[in-house]
Order: sequence, then C-alpha cells, then structure tokens
Amino acid sequence: MSTIDLTVLVDNNGSAQNELLEVEHGLSMFFRADDRLWLYDLGLSDKWAKNAVRLGIDVTSVDYLLFSHGHKDHTGGLRSFLERNTQASIYASEQLMTHRYLTYRHDRPREISPEHKLLHDAGKRVEWLGGSCRLSPHVSIVAHTAHGYPTPVGNKYLTTIVDGIESPYAFDDELAVAIETPEGLVILSACSHGGVLNIIRSCVAFTGCRAVCAFIGGMHLVDLEEAEEQDDIAGLVAQLQQAYPQLELYTGHCTGPQALALLKEQWPEGVGVFYSGWQWSK
Ligand SMILES: [Fe+2]
Ligand SMILES: [Fe+2]
Repeated sequence: MSTIDLTVLVDNNGSAQNELLEVEHGLSMFFRADDRLWLYDLGLSDKWAKNAVRLGIDVTSVDYLLFSHGHKDHTGGLRSFLERNTQASIYASEQLMTHRYLTYRHDRPREISPEHKLLHDAGKRVEWLGGSCRLSPHVSIVAHTAHGYPTPVGNKYLTTIVDGIESPYAFDDELAVAIETPEGLVILSACSHGGVLNIIRSCVAFTGCRAVCAFIGGMHLVDLEEAEEQDDIAGLVAQLQQAYPQLELYTGHCTGPQALALLKEQWPEGVGVFYSGWQWSK
C-alpha cells in the first residue's frame, strides 16, 4: 500500500486562502505515491506551472505525466510541461493522436482538441494506452469497463471527429487513476464523462480493491439546466452512500456551482470542494 499526498495545481475554483494562485477552466493535479511524483492533467494553459512554483513544487522532478482524456482544458498545458520537464514518462489514450474533439455548448461548435503536433513531437516519451495499466506497485491508470450506470447529461454537447466522421463523444479515451492506500482505494478522475459510478466500478474491478475511500474529480455537471441532471445527482448520492459508505467525495472543475450546492445539501458530511492549491493526503 502507498500513502498519497495530493495538490490541485489549477482548477476553475480559487480560494481566499490561496488568492495568489491562478484559476482557469481546467484541471491539473500533482501527487506523490509509491515514492514517485505524478501529474494528472495540465489544465488549459501554463497556469498549472505558475501555481506549482508558488506552491514550492518542483515540476522538473516529476516522474509521470498522465492524461485523463483529450479535451483541451486537461491537455492545454503540454507545451509548458515539455519546456520544463525532460524526464517524465507520459501516458495517454492512443485516441488522443487520432481524435479531434468539439463542444457545442454555447451554441456554436468550438474545437477542444489537444495539440496533436506537440503530442507527435513528444514522440518516444509517450506511452499510448489502449486500456488499463498498472504503472507502479500501487498506482494504476484505469479505462472504462463498467457501463451500467448513468453518464452526465452534459455529454450531449460533445462530439469527436475521426477520419472526417463526426460522432457523439463516447468518452472511451477517458482514464482514471486508482491509488491503493492503507485506508482503501483513492480514485482520481478529471471530468468523469463516463459517470462516477461506472468509473468507481471500473477501478474496483481492475485493482481488486473493493474498499473505496475517496473519489476526487470533476463530474461534468456543468449547467444543471435540466431536471434530469438534478435527479441524477439524487440517485448518484443514494447509490454512493449505499455502495461505498466510507467514501469521501471531493469535486470541482466541471461540477458547476448549482450541482455543488445540491451535492452538499444532499450529502453534507460526504462532499467537499477542491480548488487551485487544495491539498489532501491519505
Ligand atoms: Fe474538463
Ligand atoms: Fe472533458
């Protein structure tokens, strides 16, 4: 088992205690586990790196960079990473090289693809993944294998283009991180396009660790504009409480303010909010 020390380097939310840290629509997490240094995503720009300096985190020593999925608010900091770190192994779904990503939220389509040329130039440093993989004794990167639970309503605004053909985003490039700690499984997710319950089930199945003690990630409950989404939150909380009574749920990024309020109202003792500079350990 390994302990984990985690810091959110950049997020949509800031906090009064961390006024000097940048915020943006994006997510980047830094953590120590298995005596290695890890980054999970890089936000939208170089703000993750600026915040790392302010937080005293040396990004040149990071051993592994993991990408959760292809969207630009998670991959946009790649150039600033490659300028600062020459040693880390990079892990990402093989789909990041072949897929373009679009969002239709706010009416007009907008491209949110990663910089494919940069990924290509990173070349030998990148390990392209077609599924789940154990990266160190207690840290795994986990693809979706469970699909029975609901997925966020907001996914309907997202598409991918592959070989010129546009289809609804199937989130099959999405990778969570599972860390086996003495208190149980800690799961990191970014947008959870595949659905929180599906992601937890996939991590339990891959690691064989049934005791899940924490889920830390965005939940893609962006607008909460539809009653369907509000029902999803109620159902999600009930199922999480029943299946994982010890769970701590920390969310931010693409979990919008209304969804956060509803989550906290329904599960005040189980739900916390992360932000740029948020630190947590297990
Ligand atoms: Fe996101
Ligand atoms: Fe996303």
